Amino acid sequence: MVVKVRSGAKLTSNALRVLEKRYLRRDESGEIIETPDEMFRRVANAVAAIEASYDKAAAIGQISDDFYQAMANLEFLPNSLTLLNAGEPNGQLASCFVLPTEDSLEATFETVKYTALIHKAGGGTGFNFSKVRPKNDRVGGRLGVSAGPVGLIDVIATAADYIRQGGVRRGCNSVVLNVDHPDILEFIKAKNDPNALTNFYISVAVSDDFMARVKAGADYSLINPRNGQAVGTLNAKKVFERIVDQAWHTGDPGFIFLDRINRDNPTPQLGTIDMITGCGEQALLPYESCPLGSINLSRMLKNERGTLSIDYDKIQRMVELGVRFLDNVIDASSYPDPIIEKATKRTRRIGLGVMGFADLLFQLGNPYNSESAETIATDIMGFIQKQAHEASHRLAQKRGSFPGFTGSVFDFPGAPPRRNAACTTVAPTGTLSIIAGCSCGIEPLFSVAFVRHMLDGERLLEVNPYFEKAVRESDAWTADLLERLVRCNHLHEQADVPESIRNIFVTAHQVSPEWHVRIQSAFQKNIDAAVSKTVNFPNSATRDEIARVFFLAHESGLKGITIYRDGSRELQPQCTGEFG
Ligand code: CDP
Repeated sequence: MVVKVRSGAKLTSNALRVLEKRYLRRDESGEIIETPDEMFRRVANAVAAIEASYDKAAAIGQISDDFYQAMANLEFLPNSLTLLNAGEPNGQLASCFVLPTEDSLEATFETVKYTALIHKAGGGTGFNFSKVRPKNDRVGGRLGVSAGPVGLIDVIATAADYIRQGGVRRGCNSVVLNVDHPDILEFIKAKNDPNALTNFYISVAVSDDFMARVKAGADYSLINPRNGQAVGTLNAKKVFERIVDQAWHTGDPGFIFLDRINRDNPTPQLGTIDMITGCGEQALLPYESCPLGSINLSRMLKNERGTLSIDYDKIQRMVELGVRFLDNVIDASSYPDPIIEKATKRTRRIGLGVMGFADLLFQLGNPYNSESAETIATDIMGFIQKQAHEASHRLAQKRGSFPGFTGSVFDFPGAPPRRNAACTTVAPTGTLSIIAGCSCGIEPLFSVAFVRHMLDGERLLEVNPYFEKAVRESDAWTADLLERLVRCNHLHEQADVPESIRNIFVTAHQVSPEWHVRIQSAFQKNIDAAVSKTVNFPNSATRDEIARVFFLAHESGLKGITIYRDGSRELQPQCTGEFG
């Protein structure tokens, strides 16, 4: 079943289900009182209304129409919380936040309070616990009483579970610990129980120096953050092997590469960055949040006399619109606390990204694991990056540079103004991609036909539309084929599907971990923030293979890496979505 919205774009029945379940407005008795079309209108009007505060003569009606068309045509969508909350009194519109964790009881519980407020509104949080004194350290005059970073995870998890009972959705948490924290070995095992901390991602933060020591088999010092004193040494290679072993077992921890992140830090005068957001797409300063929005690449093609190619004019229009939209969202949003509002408006970071990359490749006839896909990734993201920076510059000419501009990397004699300290990212798009009916972020397709398990127990059948079209045109489409594919039989093993189709519709299982990293890296080199992506391994992968990919991720300039070995957790993560 497909449902039409007025502009002509089609919402799949799965998209409609997701919208009906959580996004469309309801009256007090719980009846839905809004169509998807009206939802897009509500969002467009609320976000366009901000224009008046910058330009009294702004053509708000026209701008709202443009925003509405882009969303209703499923060409650009803002992150879920903007769809959900725009136009609502006190609506929190950004999805991702990072919070500081200082080494005091008061500061810790302030952070727990902010976490609760962010999760209550449906957002996700990221923390680096490295400033927290280790377990059993001195508190006041007494030794052996501190809970340490891992104890703090439990506090946050309990608060998050409590909030979940009344909240919009289950917020993601990303917890980072620097490798030189004395509790690092305990932290590495924090998710050893595969059923514990399911909405937590944990990552170890490392420097280039640590990676060099791993290669050299050298030792490094553990530092107590309470007093900066070295309290012991560990062998870097052995710690790395523990991380690899744990990641082999459960997928966590991943890595974040601190030097790489800070080489791209646009505002070093405001501090170094050591925290990433709930699903890893943003590296932010303490208390910052960032609105996200994604261009649906599967709809960025033009057909000229039967030949499909990338429509760069259309992408350029979407980037211009997306930068403006997201900059408005910063002002249209309410914030859980003035301190978060101030930090967010100081740098005005926005996260314009992409989704539907695998679907774009299908339409162009390019396998995901190919050099041509790598080139497409580099070209498209390079173009989006350049256009986004120019759009941010044009906005700054009218609205001024972000307040933290002085002393930033953009601040040099004769420098053009810049509205946003960072513009581009790749978000997971877990829910957005369901609404847009496209493949997730830059991930390969998990399967051409599969049943999506929702957290609330519901199951949704999904068949990739481009695959269905190609197979139907080849006359190989049968109910039996669909059944085999849904039962997790891989497409490349189905001899009744023409080889030319099997070669193009490559799915996550067939993409080697190295190719996952190559594609992630092709995007990362033209992205201000980071890329949310999971590198999939087959169940048979060895620890050595995982170790090699961690090194490759570091050498390829990734800011972080998350892996998953098939079957290592009870529930297969397909996409980090609202329900799945
Ligand atoms: O597709 P959608 O806009 O719903 O979100 P996403 O792109 O999958 O995730 C964007 C951000 O939303 C993540 O970095 C998390 O911070 C947050 N998020 C969350 O907190 N809880 C979820 N269940 C999903 C996303």
